[in-house]
Formats: sequence, structure tokens, C-alpha cells
Amino acid sequence: MKRDPLPHTQAHVPPHAQPGVQPAPLPPRDAGTDAAWRRIHDAACAPYRGTSRWAYHWARGKLGRDPAFRMLLERGDFAPVARIVDIGCGQGLVAALMHACQQQAPAWPAAWPAAPSARAYTGIELMQRDADRGRDALAGLPFAPQFICGDMRTTPLPACDIVVILDVLHYVDHAAQHGVLERVRDALVAGRDDAATRPGRGPGTEAGAGPGAGAGAGRGRLLLRVGDAAAARGFAASQWVDRIVTAVRGHTAPPTWGRTLGEWTALLEALGFVVQPVPMSQGTPFANVLLRADLR
Ligand SMILES: C[S@@+](CC[C@H](N)C(=O)[O-])C[C@H]1O[C@@H](n2cnc3c(N)ncnc32)[C@H](O)[C@@H]1O
Repeated sequence: MKRDPLPHTQAHVPPHAQPGVQPAPLPPRDAGTDAAWRRIHDAACAPYRGTSRWAYHWARGKLGRDPAFRMLLERGDFAPVARIVDIGCGQGLVAALMHACQQQAPAWPAAWPAAPSARAYTGIELMQRDADRGRDALAGLPFAPQFICGDMRTTPLPACDIVVILDVLHYVDHAAQHGVLERVRDALVAGRDDAATRPGRGPGTEAGAGPGAGAGAGRGRLLLRVGDAAAARGFAASQWVDRIVTAVRGHTAPPTWGRTLGEWTALLEALGFVVQPVPMSQGTPFANVLLRADLR
């Protein structure tokens, strides 16, 4: 069977990575971890098989080619047990990935931080077709993923441990970005408060080991991927691809509200987060950066 290409390694660090801000090194990649990732990839795509060819092949391509998904696992950025809110979730690939990780946990690479899982998942997605595809494909998962077709600017956010926003915030203007991030902070604070009152679940107690450890369920983490507007070429490339993809998927508004990495970081810090930027566009022409933002 033809395999999707493996995402690229850390060897290529994009030029827009800020000097002095170095993410912790990833565990080395080898045949064993490549095989583990292929099994996780297959398992994450499997639920879409019964939905539609489009949904299945979109899952295969996106999970296989976007370097973020494997790196998030290698870094341990998801907690082993978390309530996850995924804003601009598309067809819910993060939920499918969490389920695949649990299925593959018995053969989890020893070099990786603990396998993550979700105990609740809420996906918020503007496009009805995408939300429906996610709901149809993933309805049977044990943690019963919820899909809300709604606008992130107004849809209420439940109390949670982790919020994921991958390549979404630039679709709304700067004031709306600020509003969304404020509500994300409030949802994480609410999640931290009620995690602290659950017996035996103090803040951070569910974190795994590794580069992303230390902010597990109950502490409050935002995983936000954005383009760095200071990296002119890469940012323009992602804007063009976005315009094409959004047109194909039936969107009307072109995404144009970018910020530089410094501006994103300052905004998040002002909202009470401690921010670690991680270059996350390896092997692509884009200037994408993952901001791992933990509640202070
Ligand atoms: C580039 S896609 C990323 C999808 C997904 N996060 C991923 O990484 O696979 C951006 C997603 O954000 C959604 N979106 C755009 N504006 C939105 C809004 N105002 N509220 C909710 N979702 C929105 C789009 O419909 C699209 O599914």
C-alpha cells in the first residue's frame, strides 16, 4: 500500500524562528517511531473511511503531510487525559488522533511522552459540512466527541484543559482575535478551577514527561498555530494557499488578519499566558509557528 510521506525532521529550522527561543529537542526518529506514527496515522484515518472518500482522503493527506500532528505527540503537548476544545476543528482530526493514540497506547514508543487521550472533546466549526463529516465519522468514539456548527466569535466555550486552534485565528479581525483568546483564557481558567477540586487531580498531575510536560490536564494550555507575518515570503505563501482552500470549501471572506510572532506572543502574555514558540512548518513553504501557551 502506498504510504503518505513522513513529515520532516527538525533538521530544517525555518529562518523566522526567533533567535534565543529554542524548543526542547524532540526524541530522535528511527524506524521504530516511524512505524508507530504510521500505525497512529492509519488508526486516526480509519473512522472516516465509512463516511466519504473525501473525508478519508482529506484525513490521510492532512494528518500525513502536516508536520504538526506527529510533532505534538513527540513533544507531549497534549496531556494524557484532557478535556479538549478544538476551535475551527474542520472534520475533527484532533479527536480522531486522540482516539488513535489510545488505541495504539500498548505499542507506544518508549522515547515519546505518555500517550494522550481525550475524556471530552468539543469541536467548533463554522462550516456545516465539515462539522457534519466529523460528527458522522466520530460519533462512536468512547469519549463521544461533540461538534458545534458555530462561529468562534460567539459560540460559548466549555470549561476545559486544552484548547487547540490550528490555522484559524487569521480568519477574523484583530479585535475578534482578542475576544476569542480572552474567552479561551476564561474557559481554561474555569477548567483549572474545577480540576483542582476533583479528588486526586491537582493542577498538572496528568502531564506526561518530555518537552511539553508540566502543564497537563487541569493547568490550562492553548495550542495555537499561527503564521508569522514578519516572515514575508512564508506568510504570503500560506495566505495564498488559504485563499484557494477556503474558496474550494465554499468560504467567502479571504483570510488576511495576520500578526508578527512578537505581536502574537505579547497578546498572549498580556492575557496571562506563558508562551513558548515552536517552529512548525518544517518541510513546507509556510511560516507557521506553534505557540504553546500555558496559563500563568
Ligand atoms: C485552515 S482550516 C484548519 C482546520 C483544522 N484546524 C486543521 O488544522 O485541520 C481553518 C478552519 O477554521 C474554520 N473557521 C474559519 N472561521 C471560523 C469561525 N469564525 N468560527 C469557527 N470556525 C472557523 C474553517 O471553516 C476551517 O475549517
